[in-house]
Amino acid sequence: MTRVADVTDVPLTRWELAGPGSTGYAARFGALIEQGADIDGEARLADVLVDRGAAILDAGAGIGRVGAALAARGHRVLAAEKDPELLAESRRRYPDLATVAADILELTSARLAAEGHPAAYDLIVLVGNVIVLLAPETERRVLVTLRDLLAPAGRILVGFHPANGPAHAREYPYAEFASDVAAAGLRVEHRFGTYLLGAPAEDYVVAVLVHA
Ligand SMILES: C[S@@+](CC[C@H](N)C(=O)[O-])C[C@H]1O[C@@H](n2cnc3c(N)ncnc32)[C@H](O)[C@@H]1O
Repeated sequence: MTRVADVTDVPLTRWELAGPGSTGYAARFGALIEQGADIDGEARLADVLVDRGAAILDAGAGIGRVGAALAARGHRVLAAEKDPELLAESRRRYPDLATVAADILELTSARLAAEGHPAAYDLIVLVGNVIVLLAPETERRVLVTLRDLLAPAGRILVGFHPANGPAHAREYPYAEFASDVAAAGLRVEHRFGTYLLGAPAEDYVVAVLVHA
C-alpha cells in the first residue's frame, strides 16, 4: 500500500473531550432504529443533491446511519469516524458500509486513494451536529479539508444546532459559520431550517455549500 504522510496537529474533538458515552447518541439512535422510526431525513435531502451512483463521504459518520441510508439508495459511500466505539457499532450494524477510522482533519485525497477509496466526492455530508462538536478552533481547517476532497461540482451538506445543541457542543451563530465558510473558499448555495426545506430558522441550520 502507498504510504502517505500523516497529518499532524489533530486536536481532541469536543465529542472526545465530553468523554465516552456521555450523550447517549448511539443508544438513542439504536432504539429508534429498532423501533423502525424514520431517521432518514438527512439522507433523503442528500440523495436529491446528487446523480445516481454518486461518490459520497459521510464525515463524522457516528454509527453510520446516514451513510448506510445513502448506500441503500445506490451511492458509493465512505463513512469516516474517529470514535472507535461508534465505528465498531457502525461496522456491526452496517457491515457493507465502507469505513475509515480517521479524524476529518486526517482525510486527504492521497490517503483515501491509497486506501482504495474515491479521491474526490460529489457530496460530503457533515450532519447531526458534527460541525459544533469539532475540536475547538478547527472549523475552518475542517471546511478547507473537506473542500479539498470535493469534485469540481461537488457539494457539502451541513446540519447543526447553532445554539442549544448537545450539552458539550459549541454555540455557532449562523453569521460566524457563514464567515468560516467564505474563509474556507466555499459559499452557501442554499440555507434551510429543516431537512424538509423549511425556511431558514434560528434553531437549526441546514446548508448546502459549494466551491466559491
Ligand atoms: C452527534 S454524532 C453524529 C453522528 C452522525 N453524523 C449522525 O448524524 O448520526 C457527532 C459525531 O461527530 C464526530 N466528530 C466530531 N468531530 C470529528 C472529527 N474531527 N473527525 C471525525 N469525527 C468527528 C464524533 O466522533 C461523533 O461521531
